[in-house]
Amino acid sequence: DDKSTVSITVVGASGDLAKKKIFPALFALYYEDCLPKHFTIFGYARSKMTDAELRNMVRKTLTCRIDKRENCGEKMEEFLSRCFYQSGQYDSEENFEELDKKLKEHEAGRVSNRLFYLSIPPNIFVNAVKCATLSATSANGWTRVIVEKPFGRDSESSAALTSALKQYLEEDQIFRIDHYLGKELIENLSVLRFSNLIFEPLWSRQYIRNVQLIFSEDFGTEGRGGYFDHYGIIRDIMQNHLLQILAIFAMETPVSLDAEDIRNEKVKVLRSMMPLRADDVVIGQYKSHTKGGVSYPGYTDDKTVPNDSLTPTFAAAALFINNARWDGVPFLMKAGKALHNRRAEIRVQFRHVPGNLYNRSFGTDLDRATNELVIRVQPDEAIYLKINNKVPGLGMRLDRSNLNLLYKARYSKEIPCAYERLLLDAIEGERRLFIRSDELDAAWSLFTPLLKELDEKKIIPEYYPYGSRGPVGAHYLAAKYNVKWGDLGVEE
Ligand code: BG6
Repeated sequence: DDKSTVSITVVGASGDLAKKKIFPALFALYYEDCLPKHFTIFGYARSKMTDAELRNMVRKTLTCRIDKRENCGEKMEEFLSRCFYQSGQYDSEENFEELDKKLKEHEAGRVSNRLFYLSIPPNIFVNAVKCATLSATSANGWTRVIVEKPFGRDSESSAALTSALKQYLEEDQIFRIDHYLGKELIENLSVLRFSNLIFEPLWSRQYIRNVQLIFSEDFGTEGRGGYFDHYGIIRDIMQNHLLQILAIFAMETPVSLDAEDIRNEKVKVLRSMMPLRADDVVIGQYKSHTKGGVSYPGYTDDKTVPNDSLTPTFAAAALFINNARWDGVPFLMKAGKALHNRRAEIRVQFRHVPGNLYNRSFGTDLDRATNELVIRVQPDEAIYLKINNKVPGLGMRLDRSNLNLLYKARYSKEIPCAYERLLLDAIEGERRLFIRSDELDAAWSLFTPLLKELDEKKIIPEYYPYGSRGPVGAHYLAAKYNVKWGDLGVEE
């Protein structure tokens, strides 16, 4: 409305995340007319820069949607004219006071709402929050802070971070991002389950044999080795992104779509999980590999990574939910860097058809006859269901076919980046896709004992070549639960 304004301050404006995701997402929201009428964007960082220099930096990061090229250049300039810069230290109340002054000028007496996006390393989170809240809290509107992981590296450090933040902020001011929750197909997971009749009745141990949550990247930790070595793939991907997907996949029907109702159900899933046993986990680390004359570096070839690092860049784990719906169903997670492809997907393998009349059609490979639902989060978003189908013709031969919903074929619209949805939600005060502190605690409780054991026992990761399918150990782990990864072992 006309009487209020939103100021968005990107703290750590010259960092990678700001350039790659935050500014482009803000511009996309502007282009789509999703930002409030009165808004101002501030970049805040240590280096000295003028507004014009910030605009030049941001301009380079902006892109236009494929379907919205018209006026895009003009829109960019309009957007940039509302971006400003304030240089300052992250632990200086004085510098944040200067920011406060400038924000006030732009707010011009309107109700002031302020969103701080902390895009800075974790060791300076708390200081920045302290200074931002003590010196630049809105006097008459809301003040919210978006924080990015890592939220600690185990239960203790996470709890310490939470209590430090809560010295300055109420829980409902803290927006903890897990950007996987902003991805289109993850948002759609609840729609698929709760607005169709045909999935939910099958969504339990009765019909589901196993669920697989797979994340793979075809590049290594290039340039991020310093950060990564302190965390490893379990903390980087499993404890947050994959576990969040699992919680939404497995939760009971929430009372409503309200954020608290949904998060209550997710916490219940996390708290019902069986302790994760070290022998249900396989870890790996990529080593250098030469393919087609090109040589790809190993993880420890990165100068910022110690040569003797045991940090896993790959992990597979079998998890179980100890409740009536999921008792005994293996949830298999797999996450890795420097693998043969880039992909994030959920695979649901259903049980065999009891007394299947057509068993003989599948020869000895009965596993191939089961149904499988695949939700491909990226790339090339899709939902498909593998069914058995008669090959047309006179004889009786069956094969496997897909009922296939390929997004790019069905929807012409470009899919927004996760950060757009999340930023918009934070501006609107919608907390559904953000992590509540009790969720975070439950997620750490699950992984902390395992992480400690890996560290204490100095477990050696299984080495796998850059660009490969990862350690074979992952297959043994799956086999232990009678599971085959992927399309029941068949290449798609
Ligand atoms: C981040 C991890 O949270 O997610 C990165 O820290 C990872 O290591 C990234 O590369 C993957 O996100 P996306 O959206 O590219 O799949």
